[in-house]
Amino acid sequence: MATTNKPIVVTVTGAAGQIGYSLLFRIANGDVFGPKQPVILKMLEITPAMPALEGTAMELEDCAFPLLHDMILTDDAKVGFDGANWAFLVGAFPRKAGMERADLIGKNGPIFVGQGKAINEVAADDFRGLVVGNPANTNALILASNAPDVPKDRFAAMTRLDYNRARNQLAKKVGVNVSEVKRVIIWGNHSSTMVPDIYHARIGRKKAINAVGKRWYKKEFIPTVARRGGAIIKARGASSAASAANAAINAVHDWALGTPKGDWVALAVYSDGSHYGIPEGVMYSVPVVHPGDGTWQIVEGLDINDEIAEKMRITGEELLRERAVVEDLLHG
Ligand code: NAD
Ligand code: LMR
Repeated sequence: MATTNKPIVVTVTGAAGQIGYSLLFRIANGDVFGPKQPVILKMLEITPAMPALEGTAMELEDCAFPLLHDMILTDDAKVGFDGANWAFLVGAFPRKAGMERADLIGKNGPIFVGQGKAINEVAADDFRGLVVGNPANTNALILASNAPDVPKDRFAAMTRLDYNRARNQLAKKVGVNVSEVKRVIIWGNHSSTMVPDIYHARIGRKKAINAVGKRWYKKEFIPTVARRGGAIIKARGASSAASAANAAINAVHDWALGTPKGDWVALAVYSDGSHYGIPEGVMYSVPVVHPGDGTWQIVEGLDINDEIAEKMRITGEELLRERAVVEDLLHG
């Protein structure tokens, strides 16, 4: 399909990894920015992974995607983020069985210092970036803190996979199509303290909590969603990849083009301390609506019961503890 739209620059870090392998092809196919938006892919890797990245690039060429106008392969962050309008920050090491995502902070946190500085220096004025690499919330905070000239609301961490997991578990329990499930919330950290909240969710015309019952919600649903990443690592011997790439595609698609009417999505965004008692200065997952112009708005005015408020406090404290661990990385 020939199009006259100007290409946008999309950076993918960790492009030779397993999420990268699912993500790049769908971006090039138009699944994120739409069928009329050409893209230039900038793929950033570490030096030892450059040969593997060359292989992925050859496969991208062999797909003959009309929307893929150019590809730049690099191990230099300044080249990788030069002129970037959007970035998927995937490049980071995954956890192994028996680890919590926060155990990766020491290894992965420093990656986001250099990348934040590069974004600050060379990204496009309208830059926006989604952090996927774990621990995603705190890595996003490190990234944003090292790019002081870029507004903090341009950075987010991915909790869309948790939201997708939650919606699917609800649909499966009730025996309906997942499209019937709306207004699910994921509060807080992309970790086992996350708070999948269904007190505002609907399944078809019913309140989700009435459709599934409180016992199932507390005993089955919350642990299943919060521990799904670990269950996948145990089963596959590797962390989720295609579903993670799919969630990243969903998240950036909606951020760029808008959320469906009457629904909201999950995104971990910088907290200014003015919503729902969430601590200031952490990247905390909240329900957001995207108008379709590259911005997000937190859904306001929801009633939070005591049970959810307590869980929200616990996940917020975990984020504050993670922030304290990386304090040295936040100031450049
Ligand atoms: P992977 O090991 O297959 O790939 C990671 C890639 O990142 C590797 O190719 C590696 O060379 C590259 N990399 C490492 N340091 C880099 C740097 N400084 N710059 C650029 N690239 C770098 O891992 P994966 O399965 O693709 O997962 C990537 C990350 O995403 C992991 O941290 C994983 O835990 C996380 N993840 C997050 C979610 C989520 O929901 N937020 C879901 C799944 C996975
Ligand atoms: C997931 O949720 O699948 C990812 O964050 C990978 C992990 O370590 O759980």
